[in-house]
Parts: sequence; C-alpha cells; structure tokens
Amino acid sequence: MSGRLLRNAVLADEENDLFPASLLDRLPNQRQENGLLVRPLRCTDYDKGFIQLLSQLTDVGPIGRDQFLSRFYSMKSVGGYYVVVVEDLDLEKVIGSSTLVVEQKFIHNCALKGRLEDVVVNTSYRGKQLGKLLVTTIAQLAKRLQCYKLSLDCRDPLIPFYESLGFRREPGNANAMNIRIETATEQSRL
Ligand SMILES: CC(C)(COP(=O)(O)OP(=O)(O)OC[C@H]1O[C@@H](n2cnc3c(N)ncnc32)[C@H](O)[C@@H]1OP(=O)(O)O)[C@@H](O)C(=O)NCCC(=O)NCCS
Repeated sequence: MSGRLLRNAVLADEENDLFPASLLDRLPNQRQENGLLVRPLRCTDYDKGFIQLLSQLTDVGPIGRDQFLSRFYSMKSVGGYYVVVVEDLDLEKVIGSSTLVVEQKFIHNCALKGRLEDVVVNTSYRGKQLGKLLVTTIAQLAKRLQCYKLSLDCRDPLIPFYESLGFRREPGNANAMNIRIETATEQSRL
C-alpha cells in the first residue's frame, strides 16, 4: 500500500473508531491472540454481530442499524465511553466486548473514576482467557487515562472471576444498590 493510501486507511479507521486506537497501544501484559484483534468498537460493528454478542449478556432489544449508529455517534461526541472489542479476523465477527465509562468528578481534586461495564465473550470462545484479556485491557486503559478507581457491579457467581483479576470487595463499602425505573422505552416494548 502506498504512503498516501495507508494514511487514508488510518484516517478512515480513526473516523470509524469510538475512541483513538492508539490508547490501546503497548498496554502492559497484553497477549495478542492469533487471528484475534483487540480494538475500539467501530461504527461498522453492527454488521459484525456486536448486538448479537451483547444479547449473550442481557436483554438488548430489537436494535436497528440506525439506532446503533445514533448511540455510537452520541457516545463518541460526548466522550468518556471506551467500548473495547475482540474481533475474530477470519470470521470478521466481534466475539468479545467490555466497556470503560469514565466519570468526571469534582471530588478528589477533579478526579476521574472508571466503571467496568458489559463484559461478555461469545459462548464458543469462553474459557480461552479472553474475558481476562478484556478486563485487564480495561483496567490498564483506566490507569492510562488516570482514573483513580475502577469499579464494577456483578452477580455473585462472578465474584471469584473478578477477584482473580485484582478487584476487591472493600469491607463496609461493598454494596451495590439500585432503584429499577420503568422507562417509556420499556413500557412500549411490553
Ligand atoms: C464472564 C465471562 C466474560 C468470562 O469469559 P471467559 O473468556 O470465559 O473467561 P476467561 O477464559 O478469561 O477466564 C479467566 C479465568 O477466570 C475464570 N473464570 C471464568 N468465568 C468464571 C466464573 N464465572 N467464575 C469463576 N471463575 C471464572 C476462568 O476459570 C479462568 O481462570 P484461569 O485463569 O485460572 O484459567 C464469560 O463467561 C461471559 O461472557 N459470561 C456471560 C456474560 C457475563 O456474565 N458477563 C459478566 C457481567 S458482570
């Protein structure tokens, strides 16, 4: 590929990526699998099975391409959303995903706090250390972005998984509490 074509290809990727791919460069302890690529979510991932992958985590709903793109560009323009995916390059399919959301605070001298969200690996690829790769990538990215803390909520059976990756339940500070709110979107789906 000529220099100009290569530069155009890089620019096209930057436009398509949710966040700059360079943020994932040279993260420590990264293991690049054969034929698998760890990269930012791209606007083209609707056609690579991203929504079907998320449906292995929870109810996603009948999201069309326009809805996906509208949310993608909203996340990109607001900033602070880092959806990291694993693509199987042979199948051109997204087979793993996890998200870092960076919250801007006033406390702690205008600190940044990270939240780990929506970790999922396609059932056919589980048990190959990809969940671990995704979570460690997010933890390293949070560190690179200078978050002072990375938090998550999880179901009880997953506590050992996250503990094995360095997360700790802090004594006296390990309760997740929620108010479930019935939104207009949910009502219209019923
Ligand atoms: C949880 C999930 C992401 C793990 O992905 P995975 O690719 O199968 O996990 P890995 O192969 O990277 O496992 C890494 C280690 O964690 C362990 N582990 C994986 N799932 C575990 C679980 N549910 N409980 C305890 N340990 C677990 C593995 O045994 C492995 O240990 P090892 O390093 O000693 O071999 C995957 O099972 C999944 O997508 N589940 C459905 C969605 C979900 O529940 N996501 C979490 C939302 S909080």
